[in-house]
Amino acid sequence: MPTTAIVLAAGEGTRMKSRRAKVLHEMLGKPLVSWAVRAAKDAGCDRVVVVVGNDSEEVRDTLSATGVECVEQAERLGTGHAVRCALDSVGTLTGTVVVMYGDTPLVRASTIKALADRVTTGDTAAAVLTMSPSDPSGYGRIKLDGDQVTAIIEDKDCTPEQRTSLTECNSGVYAFDASQLTAHIGEIGRDNAQGEYYLTDMIEILRKAGRTVCSVHVDDDTEMLGVNSRSQLADATRIMQGRINASLMDEGVTMLDPSLVWVGPDVTVGQDTTLLPLTFLAGDTHIGSDCTVGPNTRLTDTRVGDGCVVDETVAISATLENHVTCGPRAYLRPGAHLLDDSKAGTHVEIKNSTIGVGSKVPHLSYIGDTTMGSGVNIGAGSITCNYDGINKNHTTIGDDVFVGSDTMMVAPVNIGAGALVGASSCITKDVPADALALERSEQKMVEGYAPVRRKRLEQEKEGQR
Ligand code: UD1
Ligand code: CA
Repeated sequence: MPTTAIVLAAGEGTRMKSRRAKVLHEMLGKPLVSWAVRAAKDAGCDRVVVVVGNDSEEVRDTLSATGVECVEQAERLGTGHAVRCALDSVGTLTGTVVVMYGDTPLVRASTIKALADRVTTGDTAAAVLTMSPSDPSGYGRIKLDGDQVTAIIEDKDCTPEQRTSLTECNSGVYAFDASQLTAHIGEIGRDNAQGEYYLTDMIEILRKAGRTVCSVHVDDDTEMLGVNSRSQLADATRIMQGRINASLMDEGVTMLDPSLVWVGPDVTVGQDTTLLPLTFLAGDTHIGSDCTVGPNTRLTDTRVGDGCVVDETVAISATLENHVTCGPRAYLRPGAHLLDDSKAGTHVEIKNSTIGVGSKVPHLSYIGDTTMGSGVNIGAGSITCNYDGINKNHTTIGDDVFVGSDTMMVAPVNIGAGALVGASSCITKDVPADALALERSEQKMVEGYAPVRRKRLEQEKEGQR
């Protein structure tokens, strides 16, 4: 049976005090709305429709890449109105419709699925996800008859008696029989304390039509934490960080202090890898087993093989094969590809370059647009001069080349296999295989000069007194 999710995200988010739409604020590197969409998809929703406000170009742009449909709710007239806008523009829906919020990133896919599964054929027309928060103020209250929901009364519309006696609350997530929802959505009015079209009124409407509405209780009410402010965003992030890190530790990852490790939802980490404090793993990052990553490391869209040591490193769209060593203080930019047993040492920057098997760039170097063979050693302070002000040029360094310290390799240039480059050379011409290339002026020697100079300087200083 098809399941469609309608994600309400037309809120103004004024409490975020932001120029950006609330649902685009990120939790562990992913916009809030994308978390909701992901939960819906993981729960088996084959179609996801996000209701956005006017002035939400950026939200549409963010979502368009993910195959999600956007529907505009030009005027914010309440949750019932928002759902009607979605239904009006998506054509006839069959099966089940899940309604959820775009600013509730912690809801689990399993929770949504359990809810949707309650709305099957027969006369269960809707299921409401309910919770018992320690402070129910502000929430719609659930009137129950067994596990049947008879009504939802908004906090502002409750009598003082109802406000204290009804403690079960509406989480704001529902599953509806699509045809029942479509048939009756037009019956919602706005005669209430806020003058809004309340989606919650659907419950009584469906009951009056002779249908059954059941409740599904969610035990972990942190799942329903809505993000309305920056501090709630931090709270939600901390909860998700805890969930992700707990599951990584369950799978055999060591963390010295899990409160200081932030791992995005798409990241994978292999067994017996240790993540040290202040490690951030974001985007499409995958780490193998038996690695040590951190401290102070940020990897984005980066793949790390097995047995690597990645110490104080920033890497973006880089690939490290097995037994690679990085840092401390390495910067690996897009296209950096470090093959097995290679090394990018301290204060080393590598961009769009292959570092061959067992090759080492140990200290203070920049390697850009370079293809490096295996067994190469790059001396401290050596640089590929890949940019001439207009073009990026390529450097090729053959197998087993030894480059002395403080060498400039002015690209485009090729250094043949087995060649030797003397320290402090500025290499502007291709070096043949097995050659020695040396570009430096000859060293002069003046025997006995140092004490003579010292004496002269001392005498000058004496004269000034
Ligand atoms: C709603 C429920 C309440 C429930 C609570 C749980 C109604 C009438 N009340 O109250 O029973 O306990 O959620 O959090 O539904 N939105 C739109 N368009 C609109 C109005 C709202 O997209 O016209 C979106 C908002 O962006 C927001 C969500 O729907 O994310 C909830 O709207 P809000 O008006 O804040 O409802 P609550 O007062 O929280
Ligand atoms: Ca020189």
